[in-house]
Amino acid sequence: MARCAKSFALLKWLNLPLFEAFAQHVLSRAQSVAMSDLCNVLLAFARLNFRPEQEEAFFNLVHEKLGSQLADLDPALQVDVLWALCVLQQARASELQAVLRPELHTQFLGDRSPRGQSTLQKLLHINATARLEHPEYAGPLLPATALDPGPPAPERKVTPLQKELQETLKGLLGGADRGRFSVATQYGWVLDAEVLLDAEGQFLPLRDFVAPHLSPPSGGQLPPPTAKRLAFLRWEFSNFASRSKDLLGRFVLARRHVLAAGFLVVDVPYYEWLELRSEWQKAAYLKDKMRKSVAEELAK
Ligand SMILES: *[C@@H]1O[C@H](CO)[C@@H](O)[C@H](O)[C@H]1NC(C)=O
Repeated sequence: MARCAKSFALLKWLNLPLFEAFAQHVLSRAQSVAMSDLCNVLLAFARLNFRPEQEEAFFNLVHEKLGSQLADLDPALQVDVLWALCVLQQARASELQAVLRPELHTQFLGDRSPRGQSTLQKLLHINATARLEHPEYAGPLLPATALDPGPPAPERKVTPLQKELQETLKGLLGGADRGRFSVATQYGWVLDAEVLLDAEGQFLPLRDFVAPHLSPPSGGQLPPPTAKRLAFLRWEFSNFASRSKDLLGRFVLARRHVLAAGFLVVDVPYYEWLELRSEWQKAAYLKDKMRKSVAEELAK
């Protein structure tokens, strides 16, 4: 039912003849669809993490078209399309290769324009998809130098949820060395916070241990095998598809990558946080969430 409602909302919003076409026996008519329309549909699907009913037929068509036409698209659009396929878990190795090869991505590395930065960030996400979700992927990959941060981005406004989450967590940790905040990862995502818990549920001092996920990575000893790395991810109102509790595709991808990188995820959605009144409730909420994510992991 949810899917049905969503697809109608999308249909209205996109007003794309393609949707009609594949809703009624898809392949024969979709053959005549223009590449630009197909790209738009794909980007719109990725935005909402929407999967059509006839997923397999739809993506077979997409791959078929991309096979012959991907290289003809504008380079930034090639990155957009691949990023959309990554969100929808449909990227193929040959397609990842097409945008991760130096001939394509080098032109974006020094580009400081907002559009260039956005493309570069998507390339990081595509690189992360290749390394985290395609274990058989043989390269090429983005060189580590692609992460050169350049001039600092203008400070983003700190949201109330972000501020309160950090403050509450800092109160729980009992020591600044027990947590990292606003953690920039190699995968192109920023964690709100990170902690390392030992088997007794005590916070370990993070700086003593290796952190291959950081950008740049940092060394140290291996954490005890029973220790768990937890990532706190805050989900704001604007991270969800309108009037729903479904994360937009971008954030679904972020969450998947953080899990694949070996973290347990502590989700902090705005609609749960808003219910919490006192400091005490907020602290209890975070403790409970941490306990639950560890318990779920152990139950696997
Ligand atoms: C891309 O992934 C590879 C393989 O994990 C990694 O070594 C490289 O640093 C990544 N590139 C960037 C820019 O993060």
